[in-house]
Amino acid sequence: MNILILGSGGREHALAWAALQNPKCDKLIVAPGNAGIAQIAECASLDILDGGAVAEFASENAIDFVVVGPEAPLAAGVADRLREAGLSVFGPSAAAARLEASKSFTKEICDACNAPTAAYGHFTDADAAKAHIRAGAAPVVVKADGLAGGKGVIIAETIDEACAAVDDMFGGAFGGAGAEVVIEEFMTGEEASFFVLVDGDTCLPLGTAQDHKRVGDGDTGPNTGGMGAYSPAPVMTDAVTQKALDEIVRPCMAEMVKRGTPYQGVLFVGLMIENGQPRLVEYNARFGDPECQVLMLRLGAQALDLVQACAEGRLDQAQVNWADDHALTVVLAADGYPGDYVKGSEIKGLDKLPEDSFHVMFHAGTTEKDGKITATGGRVLAATARGATLQEARDRAYSMVDAVDWPEGFCRRDIGWRAL
Ligand code: AMP
Ligand code: GLY
Repeated sequence: MNILILGSGGREHALAWAALQNPKCDKLIVAPGNAGIAQIAECASLDILDGGAVAEFASENAIDFVVVGPEAPLAAGVADRLREAGLSVFGPSAAAARLEASKSFTKEICDACNAPTAAYGHFTDADAAKAHIRAGAAPVVVKADGLAGGKGVIIAETIDEACAAVDDMFGGAFGGAGAEVVIEEFMTGEEASFFVLVDGDTCLPLGTAQDHKRVGDGDTGPNTGGMGAYSPAPVMTDAVTQKALDEIVRPCMAEMVKRGTPYQGVLFVGLMIENGQPRLVEYNARFGDPECQVLMLRLGAQALDLVQACAEGRLDQAQVNWADDHALTVVLAADGYPGDYVKGSEIKGLDKLPEDSFHVMFHAGTTEKDGKITATGGRVLAATARGATLQEARDRAYSMVDAVDWPEGFCRRDIGWRAL
């Protein structure tokens, strides 16, 4: 099977690594990829938001199966375009990807099937949004409706702060994404990410993870795309998982089918759990980054069979074989991230790291020139390890981190603290 993966982050490196563990994978191309991916697969420069260009590339390269990594091409309809061209594709249609691309759409779907989530209001003008905020209590959550690269959510501690956030959003701080705003009740509890493969109405739980969104140790400082993750998430007990499936995921997926826009792909279910009751925080239409790194290291070769079964509508016959293991990933980011960060610094020591089914250094934002690896993104590497216990996985991941020689980078030293 010839496979094309779209994307260039740690998530796509992990997807590529897992695909290569499977003997079914004959040829693997990742577009655009990064320096780490280039060490294991062919990388191609391609505008992955241009469905026509991707379809043409796939045809020229005899591609049988396309895996779409990030949300932007999904929202732009690239999966639709590829399916029209007759390709087998893992990833939802643009209509189904609205579960990520529009927060008010997701709230509407939850309303239609009574899925537990935060109470909310949806506004297209600032005065009405601010009147709603003033009539309620703080803290309160203000969200830009559209895709804002993970930055469009403001947890406001005071009414004034919430009103200022509304003005910022309608003032264009998040571009078109902020033309509509959702105001939500602030939920308390513990967060977890639940990953479910969906092909229309069959839902197959793939695994759970917990992310660390804040940049600093002890969950301090600004939000990031994720500074580390571990899997499984202890808060996702069997009972919580069952409730999340029965009360949230399955009813929402049935509602999507009813509307003529069935979901196909991985559904990233962001949950807030309090007293054993899960409530939906958000859906994403793709794997999380860095959650994908820990999931792929645990799943190994079967990941390819599972995403292919999902794309081909065979999930009712598929099964996930979980080992009783743990994985943990530590993100190394460039100094300054998530603000303006240093670009182009050299990373040394990567060639001395262990590389086996227990340790993989996934690359997220790197390029290679004249044999040197340099940092080009905010999140640059994800040191990912697996072990019989979370402590073992963590020790292995940090031993990889400590072997990297990169003075311009940093990481959190407390990934996994809540579970340990
Ligand atoms: P989102 O992009 O919707 O996942 O929001 C980013 C983060 O903001 C989430 O992971 C939560 O930590 C937090 N968050 C979002 N909505 C709420 C809410 N209604 N109550 C509490 N925290 C929230
Ligand atoms: N790590 C969170 C995300 O991928 O959205």
